[in-house]
Amino acid sequence: MTELSDLFRRYLAQTSDSPIGLEIVRAEGSWLYTADGRRYLDLIAGIGVSALGHGHPAVLEAIERQMRRHLHVMVYGEYVIESQARLAARLAHLLPPSLSRIYFTNSGAEAIEGSIKAARKFTGRRALAAFDGAYHGDTAGALSLAGNPAFRAPFAPLLGPVLHLPYGDIGALAAIDSSVAAVVIEPIQAEAGVRIPSTAFMSALRDRCDQTGTLLIFDEVLTGLGRTGVLFALEHFGAVPDIIVMAKALGGGLPLGAFAGRDEIIGTLSHDPPLGHITTFGGHPLSCAAGLAALETIVNEGLPARAAKIGEYLRSRLLALKAPEIAAVRGIGLLVGVDFRSADFAHRFVAETIRRGVIINWTLNADTVVRLAPPLAVAEKDIDFAIAAMRDALEEARIQSRA
Ligand SMILES: Cc1ncc(COP(=O)(O)O)c(C=O)c1O
Repeated sequence: MTELSDLFRRYLAQTSDSPIGLEIVRAEGSWLYTADGRRYLDLIAGIGVSALGHGHPAVLEAIERQMRRHLHVMVYGEYVIESQARLAARLAHLLPPSLSRIYFTNSGAEAIEGSIKAARKFTGRRALAAFDGAYHGDTAGALSLAGNPAFRAPFAPLLGPVLHLPYGDIGALAAIDSSVAAVVIEPIQAEAGVRIPSTAFMSALRDRCDQTGTLLIFDEVLTGLGRTGVLFALEHFGAVPDIIVMAKALGGGLPLGAFAGRDEIIGTLSHDPPLGHITTFGGHPLSCAAGLAALETIVNEGLPARAAKIGEYLRSRLLALKAPEIAAVRGIGLLVGVDFRSADFAHRFVAETIRRGVIINWTLNADTVVRLAPPLAVAEKDIDFAIAAMRDALEEARIQSRA
């Protein structure tokens, strides 16, 4: 064990008893380089963050420029900060017109919290609705919406009341009534094992929210900024939410989240009382500068369309493995789930694939599903490398399963 690994294990709070524990010394493009001289293909992009891959020159240059002008100068919302204002304006022009008032946060979970507060204050209602399998972050409010009861139970009581509805079930939407302030939904669920609902479901949900005066909140923390083959996943459904939540790729590799909606919804947080929702570091100048450079690159280089194309290639190569252990390959753009028939096999497959130099992981709420979310600019030859590693990993996992 190296000195750093020892410090990591001894002093850093651990989130599980089996961290991947790679000692990263450098990252470039789709590749991570470790202290033992190995390199790993990053097929999860820091869980959906590094849309441009690692160390993109446009992002590094923007960070360097901003760093030399200034870092933090004031809590969010008091001073005019160029990178914040320009990123907000750019997002507002790319989003549907009703989503053009933007509140920046530090993270996805914090943006979910802000969207819940805005919805409750705007509607004067308390109840919330969310879906089974959902993941919206781990702060107490966001956790209240989590679709897996095992993660909620140790921390109860959380926010309430929350209706937990079956994802994709049109019939269940009747439970949303005029006591519900907001329905929070991932337009495509990731941690639930990559689930894509029908357009009919999404339009029925929009209709039900309109009938009951309930706000519809799309959590596009993972799906936003090109990952699903379009800039925002809402484009797949033709349904516009009342609030959109973003994070992950939004900061170009630095921490940044945001929620956006109509003036009268987001504006409710600025009065009665004023400063009723504030954050010190939200919309950090450096994060916004990096995020703006990343967003311009994603748009100018047509990366959403590229994600759609290379995602199709990745899914076709996975299917061509013809592994009997794989029950299904699902996905859209570069958010892909490989659903195994057994959780044990899926875990062996992940470990063996990582051993062969390709980083993948399983999903939080579906233990048979392995998730792939590579950088949007991942090269076709890198996909070929990953598939070769996975073929060997499947073989090794089979041997272990028979032992
Ligand atoms: C869909 C979704 N929402 C919210 C979050 C929480 O974001 P963060 O980890 O930045 O708080 C995540 C994180 O994985 C996510 O995938």
